[in-house]
This record gives sequence, structure tokens and C-alpha cells, in this order.
Amino acid sequence: TSVEAQAAGRFGFDPIAIQTDNTIHVPTGYSWSPVAKWGEPLFSDAEDLSQDFGVGVASSDRVFGENTDGMETFVVDGRQVIAVNHEYVNTKINLPQNADGAVLSADDVLTLQNMQGVTVMEVAESADGWGIVVDSDLNRRITQLTPMAISGPAAGHDLMKTDADPDGMTILGTMNNCGAGKTPWGTYLTCEENFNGYFGSTDADFVAPDGYARYGIGAEGRYAYEKFDARFDTSKNPNEPNRFGYVVEIDPSDPTAMPVKHTALGRFKHENAAVVIAPDGRVVVYLGDDERGEFLYKYVSTGVYTPGGPTDTLLSDGQLYAAKFDTNMTGEWLALTPEATGMDAAEIAIFTRTAASAVGATTMDRPEWVAVNPVAVEAYCALTNNSRRGPDFTNAGGDPAVAIEGSPNPRDANNYGQIVRWRPENDDHAAIDFTWDLYVMAGNPTVHDDLNAGSDNINEGNLFNSPDGMMFDSTGMLWIQTDGDDSNEEGYAGMGNNQMLAGDPATGQIERFMTGPNGSEVTGLAWSADKRTMFVGIQHPSAPFPDGDGMLARSSIVAIKRDDNALVG
Ligand code: FEO
Ligand code: CA
Ligand code: CA
Ligand code: CA
Repeated sequence: TSVEAQAAGRFGFDPIAIQTDNTIHVPTGYSWSPVAKWGEPLFSDAEDLSQDFGVGVASSDRVFGENTDGMETFVVDGRQVIAVNHEYVNTKINLPQNADGAVLSADDVLTLQNMQGVTVMEVAESADGWGIVVDSDLNRRITQLTPMAISGPAAGHDLMKTDADPDGMTILGTMNNCGAGKTPWGTYLTCEENFNGYFGSTDADFVAPDGYARYGIGAEGRYAYEKFDARFDTSKNPNEPNRFGYVVEIDPSDPTAMPVKHTALGRFKHENAAVVIAPDGRVVVYLGDDERGEFLYKYVSTGVYTPGGPTDTLLSDGQLYAAKFDTNMTGEWLALTPEATGMDAAEIAIFTRTAASAVGATTMDRPEWVAVNPVAVEAYCALTNNSRRGPDFTNAGGDPAVAIEGSPNPRDANNYGQIVRWRPENDDHAAIDFTWDLYVMAGNPTVHDDLNAGSDNINEGNLFNSPDGMMFDSTGMLWIQTDGDDSNEEGYAGMGNNQMLAGDPATGQIERFMTGPNGSEVTGLAWSADKRTMFVGIQHPSAPFPDGDGMLARSSIVAIKRDDNALVG
């Protein structure tokens, strides 16, 4: 088959050069086209985007949201569905009628709340390419107001109760949805990352509770929500921040199904959720906490998955672990139990970072996506960079963050990032022990001759910094997306715009496949059911992407295909 042919050749494309312009580049023999752009209607009752006024509040939950991130594809009744995150908003784009994108009213706040969250949409391919199936009965917007159930140890706990939800069982909304994941039973996992930035206090005398500092919850929210929506005013609702920072499960086949926040997977700045089934059927979920000097986690279910069997406790009843990496290329998963942490199960679920500090987990260089190799028992995590690695730094819990030679975090003031890989003992992702190595250490050998030159598989032809999104295709090729410095100057010279590369796990060879528009990061990757299309996300592009000069910049999902319509992964 073509899959095997491509696997044998490993790289089914001719690598491309860096770019610094405002569009996308792909190899010779490939083409790209937009699938869905910020503000595009999911339903025909939504107003069209205005260059002067953006999307009005009335239509703001009826259109494709802003800043796409993690995504997964599903087939529902033979139809192709994409579930995709809308991580955050650029207020200058969403509120173009307000000077500097200032947030001035409750309607402005509502517009922003609706533009974030998740889109579930049917897409279809026609002679004009891939596009949204407007008014599909599978189309759904999940926003910062959508009701969600709570599962796991924190459900109903006092720390989860608010005036509006005295039982601590129903939360409105999901926020800062970054990476994603997919379960074998056909649900979408969306991961809440920088939730802290949405909260503030209107009372200057408000004393923040214990637990705010570790998560960076401050006095002023980035979008001034607290001035217009009391739910985000911590002086009025001090427990509301405890209700964010989770992995949320969504059923893309049922637009009426209530999403579920799974507190058993811990509360931190979740990047993605990489699911794999252990040999005995237990569900393993790898989870990164994207913050300087925070940790890498793993969840193992108590019950086992059987195809077609019950799934309702698989993400709510299990054991959470944090990773400890030793300098002899081995490591172990440290269980976050009440005995080991001195915390009860609900406290571990809500203040997970504190629990991981208590057991002595390894401070990492910002764990972004984890990807599990489908053809070998190993997993990879992108450690994107860490400006606060060094002798003078700790994380917010006081854990030291100095670089350690022979560790997965070997460089102080790490500008470039690296990808760590581990192989579990006995080929069992549920095992406690593992061995590890660095798959790649990004760097710039044209500028540096120390560790910042990068590892041997970095060369002038594949320079990049700040690996972030990562996905394996079905042939076992690792696709690496970057979210870094695209200045193309000094230490970043020769790296160009953010990009997507492909890596061969066996040889370490890495080649550049795609470059994004200037200002953007490339994040989110999924394949059509027939694997003839790659869906790739472009987040926070600069204008004029993709509509041309004078038009608002629009974060988009694009489709990439081979011109001969052969398989692409
Ligand atoms: Fe939203 Fe860590 O990237
Ligand atoms: Ca990311
Ligand atoms: Ca990033
Ligand atoms: Ca981002």
C-alpha cells in the first residue's frame, strides 16, 4: 500500500526552506487551502464577519471561534467531524470597534467568552476543497458559558462550591483550551491551560486564598471579565478558579451531551491529553503542565477498557503520577497518593502541582504536547523552552530549576527546547519505571558551539525552536509543530517562521514540511478518515493571512493534500 511505501521511504516529501512571509508553504507536489476561518458561520442564522465590527455578540456563539489549537477528527454516521479548540482571543480582532480592543461592556465580555472554547463541526470535501457543512445537526459551539458536569475526586467538594452552584457539581464553561486528545471510545478531550489569566478582583483589599499563587491567579484578569461578570471576580467568587484547569470530555456525536470535567486527571495548565491503552486494558493518559519548572504527569485508570464496554469511570477513577527523571537515563512515575503527599484525594485533584512537589517530581522545561508512537512502545514530550531554568530560579512552589547535565533539562536559559522520549518497562505504558533519552535538542549550530548548537540531528537545513504541538501519523512518523521566536535574527537566524517538521523516530532524521505565516504558531494536526488530507491549525497569524491586504487576520484550519491525492500519513 501507499502507507507502506511512504513508511519505507519515511519522508514522502522534499524538505522546504525557511520562509518569513505572510502565507503558508508546503513541499512541491502538495497544496493547501483554508477549511475554516475565525468568524465563519457554523449556522446560516449567523451574520457574516464585518471587517469593522468583527462578529457581533448575537452571532458570537454561532460561528467558528478564534485561535484554533488542538483538534481531532471523528467519523459520525459516515460523516467527517472536526472537534477543535479556540484557545484565547485577540481583543483587537474581536472588538475592532473599540480603540486598542479595549473591553468596555458586558456584551464585549460575552463576545469574547463565546469566541473561545471548542467547535464541533461537520466538514466535507467538494470540488472547491474542504469546508464547513453549515447547519449540520452535528455542529456545536461550546463556550465559556456551556454547562459542564464534574467527575472524580473533586466533584461536590467544598472547594468547588459557589453561590451559583452550591453543590459543586456543575460548571459553566471551559477556557483556554490548548491541546487535545481522543479516546478509543470516540470522545474528544479538550485541555484547559492558562485559566488563571481570566480572573481578577474588583476589591483591592481581597486577600487571595492559599493555592492562588502556585497557579498564578492575580488581581487583574487579561480581559477585564471581573469588571462585568461577577463570576470572574475572585473577591466575590473565590472558588471559581478551582473549577478550571482540567481535562474536559466531549461527545462529538451528540450535540446535546453535557461535557464532563475530569478532576481525576489533575488541575494544572494542561497542554494535551495523549491516551494509550496498556496491555491489560487500563487507560493511560499522558499530560503536560506547560509552565516553567512544572511537571509531566500520567494517569492510569482503575478499570479496563473493552471495545463497546462501559467507559463512564475510565477517566474518573484512577491513579495520577508525576514523572521523576534520573541522570542515568532511567526514571519513574511517582504516585500522587494521600500517603505520599499528605493531601486528601480532592486536594490532590485540585492542587495537583503542590502534590507533585511533595513527592519530588522533576521540574521540566515547559511540558507541551505528549505523543505516543503507534508502532513502538514509547512516548515523546515537547519541552518547549524555559527562560527560568538556572541557578537563580525555582517554580512557584520553590522547587529548584537549575539545569542538570545528563538530565532531560540540561540547559540554563533554554531558548530552543528539546523533545524527551521514554520507553516504559515491559512495554507497558502503565508501568512505574521507564528509560528515557532526548530525541532532539533544538539549537543553532550556525551561531553556537556549546549545548545551544543542539543535538546531532539538527543541521542548517532543519533549524527550528520551541517544539510544541506533536502528533504521530499511523505510519509512526512524528510531526512536530513550533511556537517560538520567528524573528529569524541572532540566535534564531535561519529558523524563519514557525513551522511543521516530520521526524523519523528510528533514525532521528528531521525534515521541514511546512512553514506558517509570519506571527503565527502552527498548532493542531489531524487527518481525514481516508488519510488523504492533513488538517493543520494556524493560530494568531499577522494580517493579511489569509484574506489579503487590509483584512483582519484570521486564525484558520487549513487542509494539506498531495496533488496526486495519495496518502499523507
Ligand atoms: Fe497553549 Fe502550552 O500552549
Ligand atoms: Ca501549545
Ligand atoms: Ca507554546
Ligand atoms: Ca498558543
